Amino acid sequence: MTESDGPLVLGIETSCDETGVGVVRGTTRLLSNVVASQEDLHSEYGGVVPEIAARAHLERLNATAEKALAEAGVSLEEVDAVAVTAGPGLAGALVVGVAAAKALALAASKPVVAVNHLEGHIFAALLDYPEFTPPAVALIVSGGHTMLVHFEELGCYRLLGDTLDDAVGEAFDKVARLLGFGFPGGPEIDRAAGRGHASALDLPRPMRGEGFDFSMAGLKTAVVTALRNLHSSGERVRRDDVAASFQRAVVDVLVEKTVAAADSTGVPSVVVCGGVAANSELRQEMKRACEESGLQLYIPQPRLCVDNGAMIASAGAFRFEREGPDLLDFEANPSLLAPFDSDDLSAGPSGLGPAAASGALGGSALTGEGGSH
Ligand SMILES: Nc1ncnc2c1ncn2[C@@H]1O[C@H](COP(=O)(O)OP(=O)(O)OP(=O)(O)O)[C@@H](O)[C@H]1O
Ligand SMILES: [Mg+2]
Repeated sequence: MTESDGPLVLGIETSCDETGVGVVRGTTRLLSNVVASQEDLHSEYGGVVPEIAARAHLERLNATAEKALAEAGVSLEEVDAVAVTAGPGLAGALVVGVAAAKALALAASKPVVAVNHLEGHIFAALLDYPEFTPPAVALIVSGGHTMLVHFEELGCYRLLGDTLDDAVGEAFDKVARLLGFGFPGGPEIDRAAGRGHASALDLPRPMRGEGFDFSMAGLKTAVVTALRNLHSSGERVRRDDVAASFQRAVVDVLVEKTVAAADSTGVPSVVVCGGVAANSELRQEMKRACEESGLQLYIPQPRLCVDNGAMIASAGAFRFEREGPDLLDFEANPSLLAPFDSDDLSAGPSGLGPAAASGALGGSALTGEGGSH
């Protein structure tokens, strides 16, 4: 496909707490990507409040769409299709995006395309690497998901491994809260880890060498236990060192399993996507491990890893070209199944939950500037 090929697609993303609208040409050419973050609205609650998210999407979507069209230098009339995240995600938040997409499509007589948010995360890679072609293994690491998938072609995915409990982004957010960092915790842990020593706490590598599933809840508990033990023995540990130790344990497991999945499927390429793919140590270590193993790594720039409208537009362009538009009667589906082992986007519940951060440590052995204890 040359750069000028493919439909001009406007993509709308409102599945969680980012109001995102992007414009792309075909699956690979990014024309604009505007994200109105709601971090400021949710941070005082330590997690995403669904009602606040839905209301903020409603307030911000028009302006975000206008800005995305203006930055792309196109009008709504020129757009070939409107794509929107249909699920998985927060019900009220999804409904706002889906209703807006349908309204735009009706008003401007445009076709509408329902997009699976997780397929959107994979397509973010095409926007940075137009040359990318499967077969590949993708590691999807986000606020709600931790998955390894194998695909011989785009649009047809096989699930290799999933988390048995918390998603990795959820684990980052929970440990961040435990350490007294703000929300979202992932970027804060990332920054703190850069200042800390990863050998400070001896943490487990859950399910290392045990297939492609993940378990993250135990790691959070291990951090709590290690801190309690230090506290009761009167020892102190810097908060940055805890962040570094936790992050190193997570990265070790993610990198090892991803490379093992690529080896076992015999693919030459690895895609890493989803919000946690913005993590600097994960990016660095994955690059090192892929180079060592002769694998080609496709990891989108951080602003394409976190939720955004351009990735939805790219996946929408693919679905639109392959299957045509969706009927206007599709509905937002908070528990839309991941599009794995099946092309069916209308399937039933997958058990997605918002990244609900919880848990606080009482008496703590923490030290360090900005620490809460
Ligand atoms: N630099 C980083 N290091 C670690 N985690 C990060 C970083 N940046 C963002 N995250 C984490 O990424 C998550 C958000 O990712 P994303 O926006 O893809 O999730 P989501 O859309 O809420 O979930 P899903 O995609 O599963 O529906 C949060 O948990 C956040 O803490
Ligand atoms: Mg996401």
